[in-house]
Order: sequence, then structure tokens, then C-alpha cells
Amino acid sequence: MPRSKVTVVGAGNVGATAAQRMFDKGYADIVLVDIVEGLPQGKALDMLESGPVVGSDASVVGTNDYADTAGSDVVVITSGIARRPGMSRDDLLLTNMNIITSVTQSVVEHSPDAILVIVTNPLDAMAQRAFQVSGFPKNRVVGMAGILDTARFRTFLAEELNVSVNSVEAYVLGGHGDTMVPVTASTTVGGQPISEVLSQDRIESIVKRTQDGGAEIVNLLKTGSAYYAPSAAIVQMVEAILFDRQEILPCTAYLEGEYGIDGLYVGVPIRLGAGGVEDVIRFNLTDTEQAELQNSAEAVRELVEVMAQYS
Ligand code: APR
Repeated sequence: MPRSKVTVVGAGNVGATAAQRMFDKGYADIVLVDIVEGLPQGKALDMLESGPVVGSDASVVGTNDYADTAGSDVVVITSGIARRPGMSRDDLLLTNMNIITSVTQSVVEHSPDAILVIVTNPLDAMAQRAFQVSGFPKNRVVGMAGILDTARFRTFLAEELNVSVNSVEAYVLGGHGDTMVPVTASTTVGGQPISEVLSQDRIESIVKRTQDGGAEIVNLLKTGSAYYAPSAAIVQMVEAILFDRQEILPCTAYLEGEYGIDGLYVGVPIRLGAGGVEDVIRFNLTDTEQAELQNSAEAVRELVEVMAQYS
């Protein structure tokens, strides 16, 4: 069976680390694209030369030419500027909107059947943009953020309770921003609701840390934003698609009435498989969580409306 072809646009921290994680596993041939000449070529060659050591005989090619991306099964888009201290994800809106527009046009021209995984921030608005520009059906454009936010939430909960992260099940929904909604009512530790093992105060403080999780890293790094956890989340999504896992994961998907939200990309639980977004999963939310999700969707809608003024 031929290997799958995965293109990663943006050879920066997030894109190159995602490419490396996939190359190491060897199940896909990787194309790394960037606008900067030499950068994707250099990183791809360096990665390729790690093959004999890590035991990967996949190919990884760096390029500035979208012709090399032709026929990709999955295209991950990470190109754009990242946050610096003091910036919100929304501050990236107009710059990254232009980048996502041109990149999406080039990608779909060469890979008309691909599934697009959008990563560039502000995530939900950029997924909406890529969906509009691509002309793809909604199931073939999906955004990465919920897995990352959920991973942060699970990490903090596991640390607090001194248990393995594998024993914590949680979902963070909503837009990838300050209004994200950690669904505490369905968060469990070893099958027990967290409300039974943690005080309300501690839960609230961990929710707050999760919502500020990206900024916490930006403030430490000072020159860029997170990439180890984001790239791990990307790879989980790519594998769910390539291996048709039908995995239920929190991702940014186009909603048409689900959760009372219409015509908008927002983070919700989806079933991710070979067709991309196979289904939006309906969770029973509490009234408060439903209201928070609406509030988060409104924050995304505001960004989408700003973008509309500039297009
Ligand atoms: N086409 C291709 N690549 C581009 C373009 C473009 N039009 N514009 C910028 N790039 C490339 C840059 O040259 C850079 O190599 O995108 C890369 C971005 O890399 P970083 O600056 O390291 O940013 P990174 O940390 O990878 O974050 C990328 O993902 O998590 C989000 O908020 C983050 O929006 C940001 C994106």
C-alpha cells in the first residue's frame, strides 16, 4: 500500500514539530512548505537525515512550490504569525487572514480532495476563512484546538490529583480563546466526576489556568507560542483521519444548528475519520455550560464579522 501524503504548510515551530512527529512514525510521506526560501528545505533535509537513526524510511521534502504538495491526503495549515507577550490570539486576525486566504487557494488547487486541518490562530476564525476560500464541503475543513485545550486541562487536573493524565477524561469546547468552555460536568477522574474529588475553588482555578494556558507559555518563551502540545494534537487528528479511527475528539467544526449555533466554526466534540468530520456529537450540557458555549460562539462570530469587512 502506498504511504499517505501529508503536507504541512508553515515550517515554523508548530509545523516543523508536527512534521517531525509524523516523520518519526514513518506512516506518511511529508511535504513541508513555507514562504521563506531555504527554511523548509533545510528542516526537511535535516529531518530526513535522522531517518537512519530513528528507523524511518518515509520521505520528507521541503519546498516553496505548491506543485510539490499535489495529491495530498491531508494538509495541515500552520502558516502565519504567532503571539508574543501581551498579544491576544485575536490580535493576529487580519495578518493571518490574508495568509490563510492565499495558502488555502494554493493548497486546494493542487489537492482538491484533501482534508484540511487548520491550526493558525485565531483558530476558529481561520478555519471559517479556509472553509469559505476552499469551497470544500464542511466535513473536509476542521480546526485543531480542543484537543490542545483539553490536554492542558487534563495535565493540570492530573498534577493536582497526583494521578496519571491517562486517568483523566475531559472535554474543552467553544472557541480557542479566553471564552473556551471546559465542560466540568462531564470531566471524570478514574470514572468519578471531578466535583466529587476536588473543591469548586480548585476546579475554578484550574479552569482559569486552562483558559490562559497559551498565554502562560507565551509569557515564558517571550519569542513565540507553544508548539510541543499543539503539534501532538495535530498528529492525533491526522492519524484519526489517515487510519479512519472514528475517534471522538474536541475539534473546531462548522455548525449548522448543533448546540444552537448556526453557520460558524466552533469547538465541539466530533467523530473524526477518513471522511474528516463524520459527525458532530451532542453532549448534554448544563444550562451554564450551554450559555458559556453561546458566549464563546459570539466571540468567534465577532471576528468573522471583522474579517467580512476586509474581504
Ligand atoms: N505561506 C507559507 N508560510 C508562511 C506564510 C505564507 N504565506 N506566511 C508565514 N509563513 C510561515 C513563516 O515563514 C513561519 O516559518 O509560517 C511559519 C510560522 O512559524 P512560527 O513563526 O514559528 O509560528 P508557530 O509557532 O509555528 O505558529 C504558527 O500556529 O499555533 C498557531 O498562533 C500560532 O498562528 C500561529 C501558528
